[in-house]
Amino acid sequence: MKVAKRGAVPPFIVMEMLAAANLRAARGGDVLHLELGEPNTPAPKPVIEEARRLLADGGLGYTESTGMPVLRDAIAAFYRTREKLDVPARRVVVTTGSSGGFVLAFLAAFEAGDRVALAAPGYPAYRNILAALDIEPVLVETEADTRFQPTPKLLDAVEGRLDGLIVASPSNPTGTVLTFEEMHALCDYCADRGLRLVSDEIYHGITYGVSATSALALNDDCIVVNSFSKYFSMMGWRLGWMVVPDDLLRSVETLSQNLFISPPTLAQRAALKVFDCTDELEANVAKYARNRARLLAHLPRAGFDRLAPAEGAFYLYADVRHLTNDSEEFCLRMLAETGVAATSGIDFDPMRGAGYVRFSYAGSEADMSEAMRRLEAWRR
Ligand SMILES: Cc1ncc(COP(=O)(O)O)c(C=O)c1O
Repeated sequence: MKVAKRGAVPPFIVMEMLAAANLRAARGGDVLHLELGEPNTPAPKPVIEEARRLLADGGLGYTESTGMPVLRDAIAAFYRTREKLDVPARRVVVTTGSSGGFVLAFLAAFEAGDRVALAAPGYPAYRNILAALDIEPVLVETEADTRFQPTPKLLDAVEGRLDGLIVASPSNPTGTVLTFEEMHALCDYCADRGLRLVSDEIYHGITYGVSATSALALNDDCIVVNSFSKYFSMMGWRLGWMVVPDDLLRSVETLSQNLFISPPTLAQRAALKVFDCTDELEANVAKYARNRARLLAHLPRAGFDRLAPAEGAFYLYADVRHLTNDSEEFCLRMLAETGVAATSGIDFDPMRGAGYVRFSYAGSEADMSEAMRRLEAWRR
C-alpha cells in the first residue's frame, strides 16, 4: 500500500533522550531531568479543584469550535491587564494547545508550496508541521551575534520568494527575547513585503529583567499563538489560543470545526480559574529565576561557558563545540556518567546542532543544585 512521504517527519530527539533517561531510571539509576521542556509544577490549585467539581457535575459536551465565549473574553481581558493591548474577543480562538494552533494557522495562512522562513535553532515542530502540510520551511541560520534571532538582514539574504515568517520570543531552545525595536523591525519587514507573520508567544510571562513584546502591538496581519502550557503550568490539559486577523478568522473557525470540533471542554472551563492565580504562577517564575541564576553561576565552571543570553523561557543553549562534535553522543555519555539528562541541539538545528546542548531549568531547585554539583565534578 501507499505510505505518504509527508507523514515521515523526523522524530523528536528529546523524546529519545527521555526514553534513555527512563531506561536508566527503570534499571535503578537516578536521573536529573534537564532535558524536559515543561514545568514540573501542576496546574494551580483552583484550576484542579474546579476540574474536580466539573467532573462530578458531568455534562462536558462540545463547546463552540473557537472556544467558549467566556474564555475568549477572559483571554481578551488578560491582554488588557498584562500587555496593555486591546484585543477584541472575536479575534481570540481557543485551540488544543498551541500545537493545534499551528496546524490551524498554517492551513489558514499558507498554500501548499508556500515558503515560510524560521530561525535555526528553533522549535522543531514548526518545520515538521509545515513540511507535513507541504509548506516549505526555509531555515535561516542564526548565530550568537543576533542572539539566535532572525533579522531583516538575514531575511534579505534568503534566496527565492518568502510567504511567511515564524518568530518565537522568548525562543526555545535559546531563551533569547527580541527587543521592542527588533520585533518592530521584523513586523515592518513582513508588512512591507506581504509576508504573513506567525508569532509564537508561548513563553510570554517567563522573562528575567526584560519584557517580551507581542507582535499584536506592531503588525495588524500577524497571527499570535499562545498556550496555557508554560506560564500557566497546564501542559497536559492541552489548551492554547491564537489571536487571528479578521481575514483569516472564518477559515480558522471552519478548519477548527472540521479538524477538532472543539478544544477540550474540561480544560477550557477549569482554565477560567487560572487568571486569578497570579501569586502561584509568579512563584513558579521566581523559581525559574533562581534556577537560572544557579545554572548561570555553575555551568561555566563545568566547562559550559558559551551560553546564549537566557532572557526568558527556562532554557540555556550552550555552544559545546570545544567539548564535542557530536552532542547527541555527548548527552548520552553525560547521562550515563552523571545521571544528568540534557538535550542535543540537533533537534533544534539539523545543520549545526551537533555542536550545541540545551539545558532546561524548569525542574526543582534541588534537582538543579545536584545536577550542577555533578557536572562540576564530572568536568574537573
Ligand atoms: C516554542 C514552543 N512552542 C510551542 C510548544 C507546544 O506547546 P503546547 O502544544 O503544549 O502549547 C512548545 C512546547 O514545548 C514550545 O517550546
